[in-house]
Amino acid sequence: MGSVSPDAVNRYLKQTRELYGDELFLESNPVSEKKDLQTIHLEFSTELDSFHQQIHECQKCRLGQSRTNFVFGVGDPNASLVLVGEAPGEQEDLKGEPFVGRAGQLLDKILAAIDRSREKDVYICNVLKCRPPQNRDPLADEVEQCEPYLIHQINLIQPKLIVALGRVAGKTLLNVDNSLKSMRGILHNYHNTPLIVTYHPAALLRNPNWKPEAWKDFKWIRSMIDA
Ligand code: URA
Repeated sequence: MGSVSPDAVNRYLKQTRELYGDELFLESNPVSEKKDLQTIHLEFSTELDSFHQQIHECQKCRLGQSRTNFVFGVGDPNASLVLVGEAPGEQEDLKGEPFVGRAGQLLDKILAAIDRSREKDVYICNVLKCRPPQNRDPLADEVEQCEPYLIHQINLIQPKLIVALGRVAGKTLLNVDNSLKSMRGILHNYHNTPLIVTYHPAALLRNPNWKPEAWKDFKWIRSMIDA
């Protein structure tokens, strides 16, 4: 904008007062408003959101054809705890969010017991981002295509601890074929982040007598992330 003399400003204000009275109405500038909104959006979006945008149409394996929704993950992008399940189930596929069925509700209660929630200091996702038909176990080639997404999520979040929920998630991440019993109670390592394996919440719904053991695991998990 070029310079405007004080006389010209005075003349403009005088004419405006004659036309509109004492109230001065300033025209909003749609261009700068748009810029502000973009700035605000950038402040709140994270690298995780951009990564989600990049990969959500993935067709690297057969599950891309059968899914309803790509289930990227939810939670705090700066979480100290990342929980990893095996793959989305029916409810998760329909909603596009991990652990929203009955098992997810139990998981929310367990998190509340350690003073956390899926919005507070926790990030929840799965090894596979798409639902396998009839909830069958992930196949090796599906894991091969999808696991790099999980590794990148973990690199962006930089948690203190990863918890694998259930035998399938545990053996997939640790690349072993072991029982849950033999993987529990050990501090493992996943791409330089400590990892603990515990019960899948769906298993706790089927066998409530395992809950005291699961609670021991979660007390250990709490002590690790509070440290
Ligand atoms: N079971 C999983 O392993 N992941 C989900 O998201 C839901 C159920």
